[in-house]
Amino acid sequence: MMKKLIAGNWKMNGNLVANELLIKGLLAGLLQPGCQVAVCVPSLYLAQIHSLLSGTAIDLGAQDVSQHEIGAYTGEIAGSMLKELGVRYAIVGHSERRQYHGETDVVVATKAQRALANGITPIVCVGESLAEREAGKTEEVVKRQLAAVIHANGHCISEVVVAYEPVWAIGTGRSATSEQAQHVHSVLRAQLRAASEHADRIKLLYGGSMNAANAKDLLAQPDIDGGLIGGAALKVQDFLTIIAAAS
Ligand code: 13P
Repeated sequence: MMKKLIAGNWKMNGNLVANELLIKGLLAGLLQPGCQVAVCVPSLYLAQIHSLLSGTAIDLGAQDVSQHEIGAYTGEIAGSMLKELGVRYAIVGHSERRQYHGETDVVVATKAQRALANGITPIVCVGESLAEREAGKTEEVVKRQLAAVIHANGHCISEVVVAYEPVWAIGTGRSATSEQAQHVHSVLRAQLRAASEHADRIKLLYGGSMNAANAKDLLAQPDIDGGLIGGAALKVQDFLTIIAAAS
């Protein structure tokens, strides 16, 4: 059976002192995890976390990658730069970037492409808003978002990680139920199967108020291969409990 992946998304949180405490706390509690573990940190701290994680069981992730290769794009960070700092994963298309930075499906798909071109695994986020769920459009929305990434990446789609993050569950304490999450994951899995013969090895993560209390149930679902964790990834004990639930 494939190992699950638990990835923390620190979002715009942390500082030099707090980061070190968090990483050292995780490493102390994580001797031989039975799953893959990553932390996706603010880009400014990638160098700091890279040196703290070197030779450990935790992989380093970024929260975004530029859709451009290199050049006059003030404020952007290229995939090649992330690679130099030991980055293994890059979140792309998080709903906060779609919402606050106007990222379209095409931009997100290009970012996934750019990550892959640099040997970085994109964690592609898809998910519906509350209004879309209530209008019965959940499947339509997540399929449209994933279709753009499949279209742009061809057979390389088997190299991505997909994270289903219902927008209404993010940071709200209101997780999707295991049944709701499993249903959407099965829809995404079917879409990936139609695109790739290797679809069964693509990791499908759930994100949205996953915590120490609900992780076990969510992670027991057949198409949930891990979690993308926000708030609970900032607390050593909670994150370790989620990792244990995935191991
Ligand atoms: P929360 O776990 O804080 O709901 O955040 C989820 C998320 O957005 C991870 O990318």
